[in-house]
Amino acid sequence: MWQVLIKISLLSLCCAAATVPGKPSSSVRHFPNDFLWGVGSSSYQIEGGWNADDKGESIWDYLTHQNPEKIVDQSNGDISADSYHQWRRDVQMVRELHVTSYRFSLSWPRIMPGGYMNQVSTAGIKYYSNLIDELLRYNITPMVTIYHWELPQRLQELGGWTNPEIIPVFQDYARLVLEMYGDRVKIWTTINEPWHVCEHGYGVDYMAPSYNFPGIPAYLCGHNLLKAHAEVVHMYRNEFQQRQGGRMGITLDTSWPEPRDPDSAEDREASERAMQFYVGWFGHPIFSKHGNYPKVMIERIRNLSKQQGFGARSRLPEFTMEEIHRIKGTSDFFGINSYTSNLVNSNGHNNTGKFPIPSFNHDMGVVESQAGVDWPGSGSVWLKVYPKGMYNLLMWIHREYNGPEIIVTENGVSDRGGLEDYARVDYYNLYLSAVLDAMEDGANVSGYIAWSLMDSYEWKAGYTEKFGLYHVDFNSPNRTRTPKISARVFSNICKTNSIDWSYRPTLNDEQLVVAARLPAESMEPNSASTLNWSLSLFLAILLAWHC
Ligand SMILES: *[C@@H]1O[C@H](CO)[C@@H](O)[C@H](O)[C@H]1NC(C)=O
Ligand SMILES: *[C@@H]1O[C@H](CO)[C@@H](O)[C@H](O)[C@H]1NC(C)=O
Ligand SMILES: *[C@@H]1O[C@H](CO)[C@@H](O)[C@H](O)[C@H]1NC(C)=O
Ligand SMILES: *[C@@H]1O[C@H](CO)[C@@H](O)[C@H](O)[C@H]1NC(C)=O
Ligand SMILES: *[C@@H]1O[C@H](CO)[C@@H](O)[C@H](O)[C@H]1NC(C)=O
Repeated sequence: MWQVLIKISLLSLCCAAATVPGKPSSSVRHFPNDFLWGVGSSSYQIEGGWNADDKGESIWDYLTHQNPEKIVDQSNGDISADSYHQWRRDVQMVRELHVTSYRFSLSWPRIMPGGYMNQVSTAGIKYYSNLIDELLRYNITPMVTIYHWELPQRLQELGGWTNPEIIPVFQDYARLVLEMYGDRVKIWTTINEPWHVCEHGYGVDYMAPSYNFPGIPAYLCGHNLLKAHAEVVHMYRNEFQQRQGGRMGITLDTSWPEPRDPDSAEDREASERAMQFYVGWFGHPIFSKHGNYPKVMIERIRNLSKQQGFGARSRLPEFTMEEIHRIKGTSDFFGINSYTSNLVNSNGHNNTGKFPIPSFNHDMGVVESQAGVDWPGSGSVWLKVYPKGMYNLLMWIHREYNGPEIIVTENGVSDRGGLEDYARVDYYNLYLSAVLDAMEDGANVSGYIAWSLMDSYEWKAGYTEKFGLYHVDFNSPNRTRTPKISARVFSNICKTNSIDWSYRPTLNDEQLVVAARLPAESMEPNSASTLNWSLSLFLAILLAWHC
């Protein structure tokens, strides 16, 4: 069906496309030979074994057990894809994908059940050690995230990231994992998506610990998180890096805020302000020339705090000069996770708007929406396909922070199931093409980690949204994994360092057997049906550029 659409589109567009300047014709574009290809996962989303051996309780165990009604399908990660037992198969899949790197995270309470160093789990230490060895055996570089949202519940009872006590405790945990694994792990990230940790965890009722306390604790969380991150990086640099020879950074996240009306100065300003609030909150202190929070954040939150009766003390805490210097420069690369874009316009200081006062969103003063866009959808309401947003985001980081080395540490798309995920194939082709565009325009992107290796526990969406290159049969005792069409296409991309737009394999025998067994409901909405005219047209234009 879609091939027909493409052909029609191509015919009708060929003349117009031929006049597009600046793109090399006929030659296939290649990623650099040393480009880091990877695939990602996170501990709570895939491991299961929630109380295996002496593992402690995490804030996600606690949330999903106490408040299952907060999860779309009332599910939890107790077993999930059971990678606690199936990790050898996971490594086999990573090999099949021809990637050079596997990005996974460590579960803090699996390693330190109570969060503190007085209790260390031998079984937990061994689990990751085995995984790392298995990866290295096949020349796959482990890329390890120290914190991907699994705070030990005991530490949450002390206020979690809002309590400065977290700084030395996180450092103790990090020291242990560096001592245990640093000889073998050469790429580290301290914390995954600080914005999600702080705003979604503390500001609204979205991620554990679900504080739903807008406008204050998220900024305390961010403050402590930045300091904890910086202390760990300094520790790594002072005590480990020279001997172990690895690199350590952080991974931030954002959707790209596209100005609703590109001709409106207000909308363009709203886009810039959104970037400073989402990325600059953590990016400016670490990556900018002068450090500290972005000026616009400091000023707006100070002004609004005053208006709101908080007196002279801003809800956004202040760093001392010493702290500003301590945090600045503490990342060896810029890790960025991004999936989609929003249209944005200004909400100014309009206090009758739709956000609580005070709140992060009200402080930011930006209205975001995907209403009225003709971007193709996905299996998640928030995720629409707009590859240009990835280009814009990479170029913004490149300009804003003086050309840092960038690793796209997460990018991918969801659907509702099935193995014939041609919409995912299109997504990867389109987004990787946008990454190449940004690289050609100067962005120093050194790697790309696809999200995700396999279907997993998608936080509050439970098991209803699938991001995997591999399908997981959550009803089979050993959580059987099967490559989707996208796994074969992504593998081909990694192997050849290039995008082959014409490569769209059909189900092979192994896949046909599994596909036949899938319950009908897990196939819908049919991924192929998400491909509609707008995407076909877009594809056709891109194809025409390269033909
Ligand atoms: C904050 O208030 C000061 C003084 O009223 C004003 O000059 C400045 O423009 C305001 N800044 C922002 C970002 O609103
Ligand atoms: C403020 O927001 C409300 C609700 O969205 C809207 O009705 C009103 O017109 C806005 N006022 C201004 C001055 O923008
Ligand atoms: C297909 O494109 C239309 C706009 O052309 C958009 O509104 C719609 O959401 C898309 N459909 C799907 C399933 O993505
Ligand atoms: C890109 O980053 C790498 C790693 O830091 C560095 O070696 C290289 O010189 C950078 N390239 C450019 C063009 O800045
Ligand atoms: C997993 O389960 C399937 C179906 O029950 C079985 O065919 C397969 O041998 C099992 N694999 C392992 C490694 O136990």
